Amino acid sequence: MSLTGNAALAGVMGWPISHSRSPRLHGYWLEQYGIDGAYVPLAVAPDRFGDALKGLQAAGFRGVNVTVPHKEAAFRACDTIDPDAKRIGAINTILFGDDGSVQGSNTDAFGFIENIRQTADWPGGVAVVLGAGGAARAICVALIDAGATEIRLINRTKSRAEDLSHEFGNIIRVYDWENRSDAQIDASLLVNSTSLGMTGQPPLDIDLDHLPASAIVNDIVYAPLETPLLAAARKRGNIIVDGLGMLLHQARPGFEAWFGTAPAVTDALRNFVLEPK
Ligand code: ATR
Repeated sequence: MSLTGNAALAGVMGWPISHSRSPRLHGYWLEQYGIDGAYVPLAVAPDRFGDALKGLQAAGFRGVNVTVPHKEAAFRACDTIDPDAKRIGAINTILFGDDGSVQGSNTDAFGFIENIRQTADWPGGVAVVLGAGGAARAICVALIDAGATEIRLINRTKSRAEDLSHEFGNIIRVYDWENRSDAQIDASLLVNSTSLGMTGQPPLDIDLDHLPASAIVNDIVYAPLETPLLAAARKRGNIIVDGLGMLLHQARPGFEAWFGTAPAVTDALRNFVLEPK
């Protein structure tokens, strides 16, 4: 990497941040496209978020990604907030406007659906979503916009799923965690947005006997890349979509806004991001 005095600067703010794959991801694109720019990890303590944001803007950064625990604080710090971020209630991408404005957006819903579309043609219909955390909110937004007729939301803590159904309306139907197998009848898509199945976490205990063979199965967990859920789904003939693509696709709008080039998600990028750091 060699930078000039005109280099475009961006980064990711989180606490901790050392686990983030975003610098590697954006760094790959910067090099691939020969862009005079840098994307850096920024370890920002929760109580320093506002100061750090102002400092980056004052220092001429084009913008930043925002990750845990700053996504809600970012919401309060932005002058403008795009419609998806409003619906999701969190911001993951900030652009500093030429007029001095702080513009917030959320690209997780975009990343989720673009990841599905890169592998499969989801026709809409009934979707089953496991989990009701921040990721599930973005997934519900994406599914509503992509033609879901019903979203069956299933979470260990039922009240969190009910909160989402109150926000998003009748399209969301809440099922008990115990009924997660029966809820798959007639589904065209099954998504795991819980942390179950991730390396170091308990496995996701679910049987797929009621899931139509034509359904797409997606896990947002990407470590391991093929979770036990995806392995079981593949074995019975379902189309599977792993979770790495959501991370890669959600990064595209930010990269384009800061660095001026629309980047591509390729197998080479996937392999690069997966390699040990
Ligand atoms: P994210 O923003 O990634 O969605 P989160 O808000 O912490 O993260 O949500 C994690 C999800 O995994 C939640 O739906 C959580 O269920 P609860 O709302 O009941 O906590 C789910 N989850 C985590 N551990 C789980 C477990 N052992 N069994 C069932 N669900 C679990």
